[in-house]
Amino acid sequence: MKLGVLISGRGSNLQSLIDSCAEKDFPAEISVVISNKGDVYGLERAQKDNIPAITLSHKDYRSKQEFEAAIDKTLQDHDVDLICLAGFMRILSPWIIEKWPNKIINIHPSLLPKYKGLDTHQRAIDAGEKEGGCTIHYVVPEMDAGPIIVQKSVPIEKDDTADDLAQRVLKIEHQLYPDAIRILAKK
Ligand code: GRF
Repeated sequence: MKLGVLISGRGSNLQSLIDSCAEKDFPAEISVVISNKGDVYGLERAQKDNIPAITLSHKDYRSKQEFEAAIDKTLQDHDVDLICLAGFMRILSPWIIEKWPNKIINIHPSLLPKYKGLDTHQRAIDAGEKEGGCTIHYVVPEMDAGPIIVQKSVPIEKDDTADDLAQRVLKIEHQLYPDAIRILAKK
């Protein structure tokens, strides 16, 4: 499977995919990394691994449609089979999601359907949850609402800050994204 990974920042989930792709028998390779922000560490991670790393800034396009058309074209130019959103902070429009049916997946740092959107860890702590976690799901037009592919939980400890929980969850995110790719490769 050829992956196109979309990022907006530090790219630690991208790194987990880069590392997994280097393993013998991992059923995927990364064809292209696209960031909507230049100058982010995720782009450097891709470059270090000689993966095409492309910045397509939403600010450089007259409309969201044109920005997304550029993303779509770049993914096609790199023969991408599966689009992995990994900390990509733009919401994709229905037209591009529908153009890639069941071919766009996302990682979200909560046990969906709980805590869609931002600030997931603080909201889980404030609600007195005993568990947090992360989810890999298909992307559908409604945000963070697509069918779940795989999910993993971690405990929320007494006195956890949102940062403590974020770090605990991030560790399992790094296992879960490669797991999801293995699951999808078998389908
Ligand atoms: C992760 O927590 C991911 O779940 C969320 O954004 C964060 C991205 O982190 N969607 P990174 O850029 O992969 O380090």
